[in-house]
Amino acid sequence: MSTGKKSQRLDKILGHLGYGTRSEIKKYVKQGRVAINGVVVKDSGIQCDPGTDVVELDGERIFYREFVYLMLHKPPGVISATEDRREKTVLDLLPTDFQVFSPFPVGRLDKDTEGLLLLTNDGQLAHDLLSPRKHVPKTYEAIVLGHVGEVEAARFREGVELDDGYVTLPAELKVLEHSKEADGAHISRIQLTISEGKFHQVKRMFESVGSRVTYLKRLSMGPLVLDETLPLGAFRELTDSELELLRTYKGTGASKS
Ligand code: URA
Repeated sequence: MSTGKKSQRLDKILGHLGYGTRSEIKKYVKQGRVAINGVVVKDSGIQCDPGTDVVELDGERIFYREFVYLMLHKPPGVISATEDRREKTVLDLLPTDFQVFSPFPVGRLDKDTEGLLLLTNDGQLAHDLLSPRKHVPKTYEAIVLGHVGEVEAARFREGVELDDGYVTLPAELKVLEHSKEADGAHISRIQLTISEGKFHQVKRMFESVGSRVTYLKRLSMGPLVLDETLPLGAFRELTDSELELLRTYKGTGASKS
């Protein structure tokens, strides 16, 4: 059994993975159900290194890791919180074997917004991505009322004043398509990239130019792009290369012109 730097108490490791409370784990260990490197142990406080020691419970190997990184295709109707007394949260979409890691959403999407949401328990990575100084760009697709075009694109490039007086950083608007609703009303399908994350920012930006968002979906955050093969409400772990991109991402450092 390792006593190296990465060693932790056996009950802490099993507890972190959701195998029970400290006293429940103590009981399993006493019952001889836990082995480390093939040797049954009887002390749940024993130190071991989950990275190198082979820990088994009832003969099944336990795979330990400290952090999880999940890409969720957030559906509308759930809130970007870890718990709520009334509303369904994004955490409710995860099975317990991921919930035990206590992941939390990196930033928020409104209840009616769908698309890319990163969930992790890596506080440092989340902090870095959310740091206002990094100006991590986020691209959204939206359907908005009216015929938006070059005028609005120019205003967004300059920065627009929101309802509380805040002037936004330059943002890039791309119009994808103009069409008409059944009642004849003009709508525009657009992509907007912003490099900050004020409350309801995209919706408030369109309000400031006399439009209104009726559908909103986040496509990307920094180098992380929504995997469109994930159905709404589904999630997957990040690939090694996605994680590496996030870890090495330096932001754009965009600033007001
Ligand atoms: N901007 C919004 O208005 N809502 C979101 O959910 C995200 C960005």
